[in-house]
Amino acid sequence: MKFTQPFTLRSGLTLKNRVLMAPMTISSSQANGDVTEEELMYYNRRARGVGTVITACASINELAPGFTHSIGAECDERIPSLTRLAQAIQAGGASAILQIFHAGRMSNATLLGTQPVSASNIPALRPNAETPRPLTLAEIETTIADFAQATRRAIEAGFDGIELHGANTYLLQQFFSPHSNRRTDQWGGDVKARMAFPLAVVDAIKETIAKYATKPFAIGYRFSPEEREEPGITMDDTLLFINALADKEIDYLHVSINQFHAGSMRDAQDTRVRIQLIQEAVGDRMPIIGVGGLQTVEQVEEALTLVPLVSLGHAMIMDPEWYQKAESGQQDKIYPALYRSKEKELDIPPPLWTMITNVPGWFKVES
Ligand SMILES: Cc1cc2nc3c(=O)[nH]c(=O)nc-3n(C[C@H](O)[C@H](O)[C@H](O)COP(=O)(O)O)c2cc1C
Repeated sequence: MKFTQPFTLRSGLTLKNRVLMAPMTISSSQANGDVTEEELMYYNRRARGVGTVITACASINELAPGFTHSIGAECDERIPSLTRLAQAIQAGGASAILQIFHAGRMSNATLLGTQPVSASNIPALRPNAETPRPLTLAEIETTIADFAQATRRAIEAGFDGIELHGANTYLLQQFFSPHSNRRTDQWGGDVKARMAFPLAVVDAIKETIAKYATKPFAIGYRFSPEEREEPGITMDDTLLFINALADKEIDYLHVSINQFHAGSMRDAQDTRVRIQLIQEAVGDRMPIIGVGGLQTVEQVEEALTLVPLVSLGHAMIMDPEWYQKAESGQQDKIYPALYRSKEKELDIPPPLWTMITNVPGWFKVES
């Protein structure tokens, strides 16, 4: 079985197998961003089989949150909480990667107490989206520094790496997107200029790792290959961007897509599998983590013929023992749905349980 094989990243961090738990916001932290006991149990329980757990996205500064009760990494007071989180994951046996993020225009004034920020003053194309204010040149520099400081906190907390959340329409993606980035200074313009902000964040983080890490510490980058918006990120843009990320010699690229075998979201005629196009462009310069709708051992093994690593989201919420069952040949015992009758045994924090059982169609919920 391929999924049980270890994998060593460029930084020297060895993942004990090829399956990662995908980052998932569970809205179960305290209001100030400190983790809760329920959250620690949720992570510890799910860290006992998979090689790596990537946490829910953690906010890098005061303007970063996109959800209430999300994990904070915005100041040194959060370091004890982050330490508990890293330890809960590592005590299960998995490597711990902190996903760090800034929601940009995907936030709101009610949550932040002030107007959200972005690359430009263009609201997202969604109901009730607020118009953000463009970050000033000075704020861009401090935001880059805030990503680096959040990384330092992750290092001090004992994490094994960070993942930059450059996907799902948040701030890093907003700078790369021609929809949200209409800047005419050095941070906007052609596709190369639109890469400048995420690449500057990567540089700052690499410097931070070189300065503070005393053990292998990984940097990964998550991205969404395309946007529906017009103008929006195209696959051509993305292939240029991932080449630039490969040149930065980071540890891995993590695709964000809902179906592993998905074709283009911009052009229904273009059914070429996005993950395959990305893998072909990157070659062996860095590993790709594939994701999206993987539930069974067969699907995971098949995905691993295309990319070296996979992450599981839904599957790990529905069954904390996915990996152990898969490894021991009990794949028929893996829960293929969220069973209400098993609520007590799944260690799903109540806010997450409420969220995923109330949004129709998000999870397959059964009695
Ligand atoms: C409850 C939930 C919360 C999520 N939160 C995040 C997040 O914080 N960061 C992120 O990069 N992706 C997030 N995602 C997306 C997942 O990481 C994953 O890409 C997606 O669910 C598809 O994989 P799956 O079919 O295995 O679940 C979230 C998904 C779910 C279900």
